[in-house]
Amino acid sequence: MSNIMPGTSPVDTRPWKLLQEQVAHATSMHMPDELKKNPERAERFALQWEECYLDYSKNLVNDRILFLLVELAEACGLSRAMDRMQMGEKVNETEHRSVMHMALRAGKDNPFYVDRKPVGSLVDAVLARMEAFSNDVISGAHKGYSGKKITDVVNIGIGGSDLGPQMVCAALQAYNDTGLSVHFVSNVDPSHLEETLKKLHPETTLFIVASKTFTTKETMANAAAAKQWLLKASGEEKAVAAHFVALSTNKPAVEAFGIPEKHMFEFWDWVGGRFSLWSAIGLSICLSVGYRRFQELLDGAYQMDNHFYGMPFSENMPVILAMLGIWYHNFLGAATHAVLPYDQYLRKFPEYLQQTDMESNGKSTDRNGKKVAYSTGPVIWGGTGTNAQHAFFQLLHQGTQLVPADFIAFAQPLGGNKKQHNLLLANFFAQTEALLKGKSAEEVLAEMGNLSTEQQEFLLPYKIFSGNKPSNTLLIRKLTPRNLGSLIALYEHKIFVQGVVWNVFSFDQWGVELGKQLADSLAPELNGEESRTLHDASTEALIRICKKYQTET
Ligand code: F6P
Repeated sequence: MSNIMPGTSPVDTRPWKLLQEQVAHATSMHMPDELKKNPERAERFALQWEECYLDYSKNLVNDRILFLLVELAEACGLSRAMDRMQMGEKVNETEHRSVMHMALRAGKDNPFYVDRKPVGSLVDAVLARMEAFSNDVISGAHKGYSGKKITDVVNIGIGGSDLGPQMVCAALQAYNDTGLSVHFVSNVDPSHLEETLKKLHPETTLFIVASKTFTTKETMANAAAAKQWLLKASGEEKAVAAHFVALSTNKPAVEAFGIPEKHMFEFWDWVGGRFSLWSAIGLSICLSVGYRRFQELLDGAYQMDNHFYGMPFSENMPVILAMLGIWYHNFLGAATHAVLPYDQYLRKFPEYLQQTDMESNGKSTDRNGKKVAYSTGPVIWGGTGTNAQHAFFQLLHQGTQLVPADFIAFAQPLGGNKKQHNLLLANFFAQTEALLKGKSAEEVLAEMGNLSTEQQEFLLPYKIFSGNKPSNTLLIRKLTPRNLGSLIALYEHKIFVQGVVWNVFSFDQWGVELGKQLADSLAPELNGEESRTLHDASTEALIRICKKYQTET
């Protein structure tokens, strides 16, 4: 057993108890009145950092609550936890690993050490190889088996080996000027790969097999199928070397697959899967937008790391977002948290955050091995504005649940249509304003002047919006690789802070193992082998029916 740091249960701290005393006050607070009475609240409860502006004045908080939330972070040992992570201590205690994704973006004076060894030169060496390789593919110096230039790249990976780079490639689509189309295949459902390959040609397609462990069943199945597709067309095993690269920590497995060492881009066990887009896992990003922009992404994240480590908690964006989340989840009973980018390029961001956040903090055992006596990890969900307005915003405005939400937008458009971009932004501001203000009976009645009294009375209760619904607004100057890097790192640190307060181990993911094991034992059964495990009656019946359906035409 390692020297596990005993954690502090948040509910045993004094700020937690004092915060509980604030709940009644917060629930009776009327935010529109607060902003009217104290207009300076808008500036006081806001943070300006580089090209990002965070407004958190539309929240059910006051100075006292914010002060106590910051105290709670401190009482739960946040400073110490930050130091431990930065010093390379094995804060992923159940897997006995350091957590060093910050070392991947720390630049040339990289101060990070793991096991007393500096990691800067390791990181730089892989980045240099990623730069050289991506330049070769983009320029056409790297050719397919028949001498043709590569036109398409397929990243085969799942979870952190898919969601991060996929989200970034989508977010930076406007910067995709390398002449390469990058595709992502993750699902073990064969149709994912098959549909992707239908549009591609083996002579001009490069496969990236992205897997930290290089044992993940879904990825290995897709990689094997992709290899068959290539071999069928090329007829020669040596084509694999030109068309496959691997991003992994597992050299022997990569070699066994037939990928030469020069096409393996390494990373390390101190990089968690869901925090790995900054590592070799970002190769697809380099191929999509060029290495220089990947470096800008890393720089933006590094700047956010400096902000997180440099600012007092009360002026610290990740800490403020984290503690507001704790406030709603643990004190005001919000079971979910919505992430709402008003930007089509960020369409993959909520999905990406689902893994980063829920795989990190969806835990019920604390750092002392005890069941937690409080709630952790709200469900993260969301979608892009304005589409989401026409899908689930009804529930945000008039439903019975409290759903705190982060609204994210960029002031400048990437394309030329400023007028239409302003229509997007008008909706962005309108929604947080509507959530805040609501609509009173008087306002509704004033709008229904042309209806009969009877109709007015009937419709009135349906048309009232209670308002007073909280939101954070993150307004960023422009969607650049650098600002995107900062945004992603902001959420990474927010998740870390919440994990510290909830006293859980944020960097393991034991909860995904059981399903994997059961699927492993079920797969042969579906292919006709004897059952090796005893299933429950429901699962038995389902397997029986499935097999019957499969024999029917
Ligand atoms: O199943 C969960 C998980 O372990 C994630 O944490 C990880 O991002 C994903 O699987 C993929 O793992 P790998 O990169 O090893 O294929």
